[in-house]
Amino acid sequence: MTPAVAGSRADLAAARDDLKGRVAVVMTMGALHEGHAALLRAARSAADSVVMTLFVNPLQFGPNEDFDRYPRTFEADLATAGAEGVDLVFAPARAQMYPAGEPAVRVNPGPLGEALEGASRPGFFHGVLTVVLKLLHLTRPDAAYFGEKDYQQLTLVRAMVRDVDLPVDVVGVPTVREPDGLALSSRNRYLSPDERASALALSRALRAGADAAHDPLGAARAEFDRYAGVDLDYLVLRAPDLGPAPAHGPARLLVAARVGTTRLIDNMAVEIR
Ligand code: PAF
Repeated sequence: MTPAVAGSRADLAAARDDLKGRVAVVMTMGALHEGHAALLRAARSAADSVVMTLFVNPLQFGPNEDFDRYPRTFEADLATAGAEGVDLVFAPARAQMYPAGEPAVRVNPGPLGEALEGASRPGFFHGVLTVVLKLLHLTRPDAAYFGEKDYQQLTLVRAMVRDVDLPVDVVGVPTVREPDGLALSSRNRYLSPDERASALALSRALRAGADAAHDPLGAARAEFDRYAGVDLDYLVLRAPDLGPAPAHGPARLLVAARVGTTRLIDNMAVEIR
């Protein structure tokens, strides 16, 4: 069934008032793929009502990034939302989200927001957390679902919710991968066939790290180096909360690399033995 669509704050507020029971939100920038469908399914199975937001947030794109060419596939996204049982889609225009223009006040993500993705994309997490906070206020959910694919984003959303006492449960959903391991991403559609082959460097490196008996970072680096045409930004081992890596126990490997003009990220849980 086609979900109801709200384009304005007023329509959203009215439609939200009519939603029954426990409400879950899945925030997206559209260009939906199986990874988003998994988020919608997880939300659908745990909540009485599901809201999906669809907004390509200009605040989280740098001046030389892909805001203009970011894929916009509204009709197909609506069909996916309908197939996954979404009750309400909030798809605001820029002026609805930022009626006073670019907001001067933004959420400060703290030191973690300056590391990894934040180091390569200055202001990125200020933009992400600002829109996430606004969308939480506007949609008033009981739970919000985010993909582990954007692990640093998920970690920072959890931190924001904790630090400013937002009344919402943040739920992480495992990354969906192609059969050969490539993590699904809306940006994969930018890759040429050769670049698609090179992009396997990321997931294969993480897999090698996760399977290593010792030294997951070394094993991941050795595997990454076997691939040509990939420009490494970072490959790091961290604690699950992205603090310093522990000597033993659960940890997270994270990687970012550029393949042609496309920047890709991925991450995987590992055990340090
Ligand atoms: O993960 C994304 O697609 C975006 O960062 C989000 C959470 C929808 C905010 O714009």
